[in-house]
Amino acid sequence: MSRYAFLILPSHNRVYADASAALVRAELEVFSAAVLGGRVREIGDAEIGGVRYVTFDADELAEHDARLLANLSSVYALFAVEGALLRPAPLHRLDRLDDDLTTILKYAGKTNEQFTKLLLNVTLLSSAFAPEMLTRRFAVLDPLCGRGTTLNQALMYGFDAYGCDIDRRDVEAYAVFIQRWLKDKRLKHQAVFAPVRRNRQVVARRLTVTLAATKEEYKAGDVQRLDVVDAETTRLLEFFRPASADLVVADLPYGVQHASRSRAAATTQARSPLDLLAEAAPVWAKALRPGGALGISWNTFVAGRDDTAQALAAAGLRVLDDGPYLHFRHRVDQAILRDILVARKP
Ligand SMILES: C[S@@+](CC[C@H](N)C(=O)[O-])C[C@H]1O[C@@H](n2cnc3c(N)ncnc32)[C@H](O)[C@@H]1O
Repeated sequence: MSRYAFLILPSHNRVYADASAALVRAELEVFSAAVLGGRVREIGDAEIGGVRYVTFDADELAEHDARLLANLSSVYALFAVEGALLRPAPLHRLDRLDDDLTTILKYAGKTNEQFTKLLLNVTLLSSAFAPEMLTRRFAVLDPLCGRGTTLNQALMYGFDAYGCDIDRRDVEAYAVFIQRWLKDKRLKHQAVFAPVRRNRQVVARRLTVTLAATKEEYKAGDVQRLDVVDAETTRLLEFFRPASADLVVADLPYGVQHASRSRAAATTQARSPLDLLAEAAPVWAKALRPGGALGISWNTFVAGRDDTAQALAAAGLRVLDDGPYLHFRHRVDQAILRDILVARKP
């Protein structure tokens, strides 16, 4: 048995303040159970040379194990503890693109990017496809995608990203941003942002992009897809095929905080997030392929955990409601106590 210690990203500590340790632990437990055969034990923390580390025990981590753990949303640097010394363990992250993709955009109502990474990780690891984390091009759908934090994290990982948001301005802002970013980074891509017409009526606007991290991949047709529509989320299946998403990841509207922001928020203010979920969850479940997983975050001040879980179960999903899944609740600010629920499509 070997002992490991890792440093948490300093920004992660700032984001979650006191909840950080519990969240890191819960995410690590999900990694361990899903892809490391439960080999991570005795998760704790220690002060080494005056700096706080998260510690755990595990049989010698093989390179593949370290490659998985490198994607923990909180990890900054990983070490094997050897007596009084720390031996750096190389961290090769999945990241295919520059990390400013997820950090540049700042706006009211943005879901924090590290939290988004955690939610994507936990959802992925709860799907039947978890063992393929390093090899599969996951199809990730955010049915409430806003200005694309989840989509960008999915692209970072080399995945395909699909999104939908009722707020036309959000989708437009995202379309402008991502096209500019791809140009600035000189990444090979093709992008179209155009109205979708049915019976001569414009029913939505849609951004479709194909891109690749390298010229060679682009030439070989080995491309990532990004596809975003401005539409009410319950209309998703007008634009995306049923059973086509491996993962559905969404941060539900928080209630009143961002209500002045848009007509969409005004709509959702009238409808509680729980009503939205009751209507939308069956559609999201249809968009998932069997074995896929859905992960949502929401403000527990506006909807209780049991009712939220019930809405997912009513959509035919199996809610994962034990062990580490019970320990993701954390304070965001005075008005938001955020939690996560993850469910699997049988
Ligand atoms: C908490 S925000 C998500 C923010 C996003 N993760 C980001 O970082 O930009 C919730 C989003 O849900 C969208 N929304 C609310 N009700 C909706 C509906 N019925 N259909 C589609 N989108 C909706 C809002 O416009 C808002 O962008």
